[in-house]
Amino acid sequence: QQSVRIAPSILSADFASLGEEVRAVDAAGADYLHVDVMDGHFVPNITIGPQVVAALRPHSPKPFDVHLMIAPVDPYIEAFAKAGADIVTVHPEAGYHLHRTLQLIKSCGKKAGVSLNPATPVSVVEPVLGELDLILVMSVNPGFGGQKFIPEALDKIRALRKMIDASGRTIDLEVDGGINRETAPQAVAAGADVLVAGTATFTGGPQAYPENIRALRGA
Ligand code: DX5
Ligand code: ZN
Repeated sequence: QQSVRIAPSILSADFASLGEEVRAVDAAGADYLHVDVMDGHFVPNITIGPQVVAALRPHSPKPFDVHLMIAPVDPYIEAFAKAGADIVTVHPEAGYHLHRTLQLIKSCGKKAGVSLNPATPVSVVEPVLGELDLILVMSVNPGFGGQKFIPEALDKIRALRKMIDASGRTIDLEVDGGINRETAPQAVAAGADVLVAGTATFTGGPQAYPENIRALRGA
């Protein structure tokens, strides 16, 4: 388990000033920029596409952690890679061939992640561990920010921490949804090392971002 890294989800940022918001969380100490891409089909909400990722790219040198909640996902991977994603994370339900999808991400020169919905078992990642740079445990059902943390996610984080350590590989274990000052320490104790935080980062406006991020990291 590496030191705790914070990935603000720009889903909770002011969409009318996204460039400024990205610069503000970068300056406030964000480790990754978490970008939630939704298609109104795989999840019941629509957010942004590769053009917005490309527009934000010059605003921060930090890794762009792009969480694709779209299906089918394969036809769009190259576009997000070209737009400036550093890590591309997909859901196993978003295509028929997870291994092929991960190879596609690698062939674009990007790090590959798999995201597990609350009802998706951890065993899904076992056969593809060798292709993975990141595992994302959803602690809410994907689609919206500001939802309540589902505590059963902690058992999955514990199981995945064991699996990753036993493999001897360097794989980020990230948790996404309902992370705040109460749930962050629980997720870290269970074995997570990257915390996605939308609401908890962007509450209080730009002056509050450094303290918001520090408090989560303190977990
Ligand atoms: C939900 C997204 C999350 C979301 C988290 O589908 O994947 O990244 O923005 O928001 P909070 O931190 O507010 O729960
Ligand atoms: Zn996300």
